[in-house]
Amino acid sequence: MKKTFGMLLACLFGLAPLASLASDMAERIKPCEACHGNQGRAGPDGYYPRLAGKPAGYLYNQMQNFSQDRRHYTMMRRMMAPLSPQYQREMADYFASLQIPYLPPSLKNTAPSSAQMARGKQLALLGDPASDLPACNTCHGKNLMGSQTNVPSLLGLPSAYLGAQLSAWTLGERTTVAPDCMSDIAKHLSADDAAAVTGWLAAQTVPSKSTSNKPNRAPENLRCGSAPELHGALK
Ligand code: HEC
Ligand code: HEC
Repeated sequence: MKKTFGMLLACLFGLAPLASLASDMAERIKPCEACHGNQGRAGPDGYYPRLAGKPAGYLYNQMQNFSQDRRHYTMMRRMMAPLSPQYQREMADYFASLQIPYLPPSLKNTAPSSAQMARGKQLALLGDPASDLPACNTCHGKNLMGSQTNVPSLLGLPSAYLGAQLSAWTLGERTTVAPDCMSDIAKHLSADDAAAVTGWLAAQTVPSKSTSNKPNRAPENLRCGSAPELHGALK
């Protein structure tokens, strides 16, 4: 009898809040799904980015970037500005926990030539010292699937979205906590190289085990304020 009562109490005070957090979260993210797709799997046209399964620290940093005017998109800013960091953190953790399969790459609007594909692959996996460009996989993980907790994957994203982010960095419309390594990288990419690397990245199939891998070390001369783990600052 006592035991049953204890379990009842546990249900009322222990498990009930958990259950209500989950359903509260489903409610909380409904407005996000209007643009970011069901459970944050990305909008249909390639413009609204996927949120599902991206590293929690990365998602949280972006919400802070929109709130604090480091990254500009009016609707995102309006939605994020009134929310507390804690509330944003909870949404970031929730989206990061959603493991949803990726669609196969769509090359509908982009058909890179074989020369572009070769150049794109070189930039992604080897870099180009002559243009002062480290390989993208130095920081984005060996398989380019990002690394916990602050570096996003480069696969599974449409080339239009990738290209828009690189030009936003070049134009100063997208920034992050200084020093902003991606801003340096974007500014070293010529328009042709940006098209080549985004075309190649968008054409890759996302590995079936889409979890991110351990970060490598960023080059000494290129610091990323939003990803201290790349510099060994986090243990
Ligand atoms: C009106 C459409 C719209 C709604 C609603 C919306 N977003 Fe966004 N969101 C966008 C667009 C567009 C971008 C990409 C902007 C850019 O390219 O800088 C974005 C980007 C983001 C990013 C950065 C993703 C990345 O990979 O860099 C996060 C995180 C995010 N949104 C979270 C949310 C959350 C959480 C909600 C719900 C509370 C939400 N968004 C609701 C349109 C929307
Ligand atoms: C020195 C480390 C480093 C290197 C090298 C690097 N990146 Fe990044 N990249 C980052 C970090 C850190 C972020 C997260 C930035 C933020 O928090 O806003 C990022 C974010 C991005 C994003 C945003 C993804 C999204 O979901 O919005 C794109 C696109 C990107 N990088 C492309 C590239 C490409 C292409 C290359 C190779 C030419 C490259 N990066 C090389 C560190 C790096």
